[in-house]
Amino acid sequence: NAIYGAGLSGILPTVPVDFATLEKRAQAALPPHVLSYVQGGCGDEWTQDQNAAAFRHWGMVPRMMVDCTRRDLSTELFGLKLPSPVFMAPIGVTGIMTQDLHGDLAAAKASALTGVPLCASTLSNDPLEKVAAEQGDTPGFFQLYTPRNKELAESLVRRAEAAGYKAIIVTLDTWVTGWRPRDLNTANFPQLRGAVLMNYFSDPVFRSGLAKPPEQDPVAAIQAWAAVFGKVLTWDDMPWLRGMTKLPLVLKGICHPDDVRRAIDLGADGIYCSNHGGRQANGGIAAIDMLPGVVEAAGSTPVLFDSGIRSGTDVIKAVALGARAVGVGRPYSYGLALGGAEGAASVLRAILAEADLLMAVNGYPTLDAVRAAGAQRT
Ligand code: FNR
Repeated sequence: NAIYGAGLSGILPTVPVDFATLEKRAQAALPPHVLSYVQGGCGDEWTQDQNAAAFRHWGMVPRMMVDCTRRDLSTELFGLKLPSPVFMAPIGVTGIMTQDLHGDLAAAKASALTGVPLCASTLSNDPLEKVAAEQGDTPGFFQLYTPRNKELAESLVRRAEAAGYKAIIVTLDTWVTGWRPRDLNTANFPQLRGAVLMNYFSDPVFRSGLAKPPEQDPVAAIQAWAAVFGKVLTWDDMPWLRGMTKLPLVLKGICHPDDVRRAIDLGADGIYCSNHGGRQANGGIAAIDMLPGVVEAAGSTPVLFDSGIRSGTDVIKAVALGARAVGVGRPYSYGLALGGAEGAASVLRAILAEADLLMAVNGYPTLDAVRAAGAQRT
């Protein structure tokens, strides 16, 4: 209502409210290397395209004669009451989305402005403590890329705990970077600019001698990055991961029901169904098509989801298919690129407003009602 009301008075949202126009504007505004970093995916980007396209073969059936004058989008996750199921997925090197290289702080500010939690990436440009401080009262999560050096991993987790993050999300699918032709064809390694200023440079374990922060040399920075991270995780590492923190532990990138069961047996508190937005492996089926199998195997364990969310309608479909929380990736990055913290906040508000309006029209007063209604493959 507020968005429409303002629009009628000629006050339009800071950035376009639909993804296609948003992406087109970002395409025009971003330097080519930054654009290829955010927009690009793995191989010929078939999986990335499928992620978004697959939402079109899931549909919902409306219910009538239900009082939906008030909608409750709130959800519970790890004992937190969140105002909506939407969160900001972890995006590394977000610094480069804004001119000042502090895109991570702008993302955190958007989180504070909207109440939408941010999952801060290990590969943020700003230190994780500063990112947490910008999130204000909105709870945040910390995403861990596991360094080869266990002490560094433990130090990052301890810092995240001390900074007040509410969950540790370990990404499993990125011990090596996927085949990304856009980067190779243009020799436009976007990370070059961001790599000289990374969150982990500030870590005491890193500084105490793992490597010299290559602040002046971007190529060395990228090489150091590969040397520092890239630990291959196996199920044998689960006791170590589990023992590292008392915070809720979530595994990101789990899509197979057998892996879901194994993760839960070994102590995971949450399962994050995602194919990294199609950036890591090509040829995989759309993430939303894997969600029902993951939800079924997870039972009462909460399932987080991302990959392909482009609108509020997509959020509601993911909830209908059983997601407890739904991550948005590229859309908020484009918001950052076009309007900093306000731009990202505007993107998130549009997604929330569309979700809310859909619930109103479809007769779903709560997310439980959305789940009860479900979604059907068309
Ligand atoms: C990512 N993603 C990601 N994931 C993660 O666990 N750690 C990270 O540092 C990053 N970095 C990153 C950078 C960029 C530019 C993008 C676009 C994505 C993956 C991200 O968390 C999420 O899984 C996808 O972005 C979801 O897909 P959509 O919403 O972008 O389609």
